Amino acid sequence: MTTRTLIHVSDLHLGKNLETERRAIAMCEALIAVNADHVVVTGDLTHRGRASELALFWRIFAPLTARGRVTVVPGNHDRLGDDLGEAIQGGGRVVVTQLPGLHLVRFDSTGPHNRAWLAGHGVMTADDVAAISAAVDLAAPGALVAVLLHHHILPLPADHAAERLASWLGWPYADELELGGDLLGALRGRCDLVLHGHRHAPQAGTFFGYDARPVLVFNAGSSTELGRVRVFAHALGRVLGPPAWLTTGPDSRDTPARTRGAGRAELGLPSTT
Ligand SMILES: [Fe+2]
Ligand SMILES: [Fe+2]
Repeated sequence: MTTRTLIHVSDLHLGKNLETERRAIAMCEALIAVNADHVVVTGDLTHRGRASELALFWRIFAPLTARGRVTVVPGNHDRLGDDLGEAIQGGGRVVVTQLPGLHLVRFDSTGPHNRAWLAGHGVMTADDVAAISAAVDLAAPGALVAVLLHHHILPLPADHAAERLASWLGWPYADELELGGDLLGALRGRCDLVLHGHRHAPQAGTFFGYDARPVLVFNAGSSTELGRVRVFAHALGRVLGPPAWLTTGPDSRDTPARTRGAGRAELGLPSTT
């Protein structure tokens, strides 16, 4: 029996500041050190949606992408600036990626409204749910099936005061995907993992837990902020036990404020010139 590892990364927000870049570099080094079989990144690769920020992502993760070990979907922040949704996802809203022992269904949950900072919520129509369901059906027997998307499919606490205020005013900006429950029902018995980000605090949930094949839903949180990522071991199309956390750096809540204004040399980053 071949046991493989799948690592869930999300919400890197490259371009936010130099500390974030340093944390992403350290993370990639940790992923290489554990020889991860595959890494998924569920959106908000960039902070301002700039092409230069996406180029930085590809540069940092080049040792893994060169070996075909990274799969990405876009997040709302990637739709800002240069509108990178197509550059990240390509090929439409639902794309299947098949790898040894793994069937990944990539869903682009962003929409044109994400061009505005405040309107960060996702969109998933009935047609999207049907397309995701059809893509899941293409899985080979014995493959682990994971749906990858950026936005949360079930209600989660807001990350900050502006989102709480938006919700209080009745605006949809912090809401979960409208048909998230429908998607969960459509995936029952046919999908092992739903992996997403968007909310920067990690969450986990098990659905249809008495089924032979429950659906496990994980929010990675912001991997660069947390300094840790989940590692799933899987074999024969099943997740082997609960995921383990791989520490890739300090938790940002413990980081001294002075590093936020530090220069490239002080943070050990290469010069950009
Ligand atoms: Fe984010
Ligand atoms: Fe997001």
